Amino acid sequence: MSDKVKIVFVEKGEKKEFEVPVGSSVLEVAHNNNINLEGACEGSLACSTCHVIVDKAFYNKLTPPTEDEEDMLDLAFGLTPTSRLGCQIIMTKELDGLTVIVPDETRNISINN
Ligand code: FES
Repeated sequence: MSDKVKIVFVEKGEKKEFEVPVGSSVLEVAHNNNINLEGACEGSLACSTCHVIVDKAFYNKLTPPTEDEEDMLDLAFGLTPTSRLGCQIIMTKELDGLTVIVPDETRNISINN
């Protein structure tokens, strides 16, 4: 029995597919595979740098965002109706084949430049 599911990242128009264990978060998968998704707060819902745009076909299969997630999403650059925070999406069997787009630009929150 395999506990792996497929996830596809679309980064700068390029598709990158991975087989990942059920239970991984989209942010973890991105970090383990050199996908350019920042995730500055490591999944503690204190940033919006893990913003991804979920393929419409999958959006409704996700657990709906909590209020805290909604609040952080409001701060994300380039918010779309199917935007989610990558650290809050946990892979399940149901999400096999999940496709997420990595936004080209994230809000630059650095104050040093
Ligand atoms: S990594 Fe900060 S909210 Fe997801």
